[in-house]
Amino acid sequence: MKSSSAKDKRKVLKNKNILLGVTGGAAAYKAVDLTRRLKEEGATVTVIMTDASKNFITPLSLEIASGNRVYSDLFDTPMSHITFPAAADLMVIAPATANIIGKFARGIADDLLSTCLLSFRGKVVIAPAMNWRMYENPIFQKNLQYLISHGVVQVGPEKGSLACGEEGIGRMADVNEIIEAIKSALSNKDLLKERIIVTAGPTREYIDPVRFISNRSSGKMGYAIARAALRRGSEVTLISGPCSLMPPRGLKLVTVETADDMRNAVLQHLPEATVVIMAAAVGDFTPQTKEQTKIEKSDELTMRLKKSPDILSEIGSMRNRPLLIGFAAETGNRLDRARKKLIEKGADIIVFNDVTSAGSGFDVDTNKITIIERDRETALPLMTKEEAAEAILDRVSDLRA
Ligand code: PMT
Repeated sequence: MKSSSAKDKRKVLKNKNILLGVTGGAAAYKAVDLTRRLKEEGATVTVIMTDASKNFITPLSLEIASGNRVYSDLFDTPMSHITFPAAADLMVIAPATANIIGKFARGIADDLLSTCLLSFRGKVVIAPAMNWRMYENPIFQKNLQYLISHGVVQVGPEKGSLACGEEGIGRMADVNEIIEAIKSALSNKDLLKERIIVTAGPTREYIDPVRFISNRSSGKMGYAIARAALRRGSEVTLISGPCSLMPPRGLKLVTVETADDMRNAVLQHLPEATVVIMAAAVGDFTPQTKEQTKIEKSDELTMRLKKSPDILSEIGSMRNRPLLIGFAAETGNRLDRARKKLIEKGADIIVFNDVTSAGSGFDVDTNKITIIERDRETALPLMTKEEAAEAILDRVSDLRA
């Protein structure tokens, strides 16, 4: 198996060799997008198609998407059923029909894909896709459960309208979810013992029933931390302000609106937590009074604001508290202010980000962070929020070791 260089450690898929099996289902066309996305994230993808899958999609489409030759004949390339799996970091079957799942469960090896599955020693991810009757069939379920009991990772299927026109369970999982399952299967489970609270997104401080004060937080940073923590094995409670992101599966999601709501939710879950990571942009001020009806339009409006609860400081002052990580959203290179927050708020780590720097901070997919601790500082270059999340969790992992 290939090993990643230290530089690429935080890019889970970088330099990974993925063997993608495509079988004969209506969702086979989604394998093109999956291949492209895996490649975009730095993986090398080798595609093996079953004969049946070629009724749904051409090898050429997958050849273009992967930039590699597509294989399907067991006898075309001698020993490929041994050499391909030996070079792969992970095998994924998407879509996975009842046929390939049945063959794999019973150890049948009669084509290139099924022989590769038998000779492969690493993690296998399967994304089943079929008619709901087939999916619910107890014989199929027995095969599926047998594979799961042997460490095969199942992703999906979902309920919805199926290719046959019926409604039910059997739609292949979304490509994002398949990628997340692949990343999780490839991730080191170094945070298995942790129960992490992550806060994300903005809060809304209501002026009247229809107006509120908020900020530009999209939730992307907090959600990236939650996803990375899940992949690394921890239990995650994501306390999220209003945002439009899809929460990852497998975590406990608590949705809140105001700073008060967020404080209540964090305090409620605090007793079980071993780590708290506050990436949310909690409103610092809230209207002193909230009008019960919509404020009438007028030439001027004067409003008095009061301080909202400072959740990070409140936890920071507790005697027996979990490992506490806050963020500092600063305008300009104000590391001095972030260092002050570390001390004043009683956190163990403050993650500084200059929200006015290009590609950093609010509502972008990248961030440039400095991880500030009492005795050390790590300045990182501009990277994806996913990589930034991995870097923060690397510190958690180091501190726990
Ligand atoms: O959501 P994105 O679009 O991805 O943007 C990411 C981000 C810019 C929101 C994120 O990276 C970030 O910097 N989050 C913290 C924003 C913030 O509120 O910073 P602050 O410097 O004002 O607060 C310092 C810390 O105290 C933060 O951990 C904050 O969660 C916490 N806080 C702040 C106010 C308050 N009333 N209670 C708090 O607990």
